Amino acid sequence: MAGLPYIVGNWKMNGTRGMLAEARAMDRAAARFPKVQVAVAPPATLLYRVRDAVELIGVGGQDCHAKESGAFTGDISAPMLKDAGADFTIVGHSERREYHGETDADVKAKAEAALAAGLAVILCVGETEAQRDAGNAEAVVSAQLDGSCPHFDGAPEKLSVAYEPVWAIGTGRVPSIADVAAMHAAIRNRLVGIYGEGGADVRILYGGSVKADNAAELLAVPDVGGALVGGASLTAESFLAIVGAAASLNT
Ligand code: 13P
Repeated sequence: MAGLPYIVGNWKMNGTRGMLAEARAMDRAAARFPKVQVAVAPPATLLYRVRDAVELIGVGGQDCHAKESGAFTGDISAPMLKDAGADFTIVGHSERREYHGETDADVKAKAEAALAAGLAVILCVGETEAQRDAGNAEAVVSAQLDGSCPHFDGAPEKLSVAYEPVWAIGTGRVPSIADVAAMHAAIRNRLVGIYGEGGADVRILYGGSVKADNAAELLAVPDVGGALVGGASLTAESFLAIVGAAASLNT
């Protein structure tokens, strides 16, 4: 698998200008961890300011519209994210799928719009607890990949997939290491099915209750190429502990 471990903070709907100090602290500390790729996805209102405040870390959006512009009140397009200084955007987060009714086809269109605008993409997939309990986790995630993976033949670092079991997000619960390994292997298999050899180089991140005390174990799993971190990315201290865990595995 290509690339440095990729540790991305998803601030979700958290943060006003007071959070810029955290972003600056993350950026300063990132210099100590050159073997880890670090990025944050602040709310859109802070994107430009975070971009301005940092030098080393990547900055991205949390969602984009599939169209470039138009009568879509409240929405933000991929070229707008790019213009505000974004390097990447998250698409298909389960909170978008659940609360905004986004389908796989919507997510695919968003991912393609982001790539067309020159943004890298972090495409999220993951099963609900009921789907896992029914023994359908891998089938659900494979179907999400089939439906939402963008047409893509660019550089592998332009596309990452984040496996985020819905039941592990914000709950303090994480799947067993064996379950993470099995799912990441299944995702790898599907990505190679979809993209051919290029699918072997797409990074697969794990997300869902990643904290300082479980990061090293999760990041050591084969085919876990990084982490998408929610709650623990809101302070430099907790986020950098995860970046540090990634660095110590990649010396
Ligand atoms: P938590 O780390 O708060 O569980 O959130 C994970 C997530 O949804 C990141 O996108």
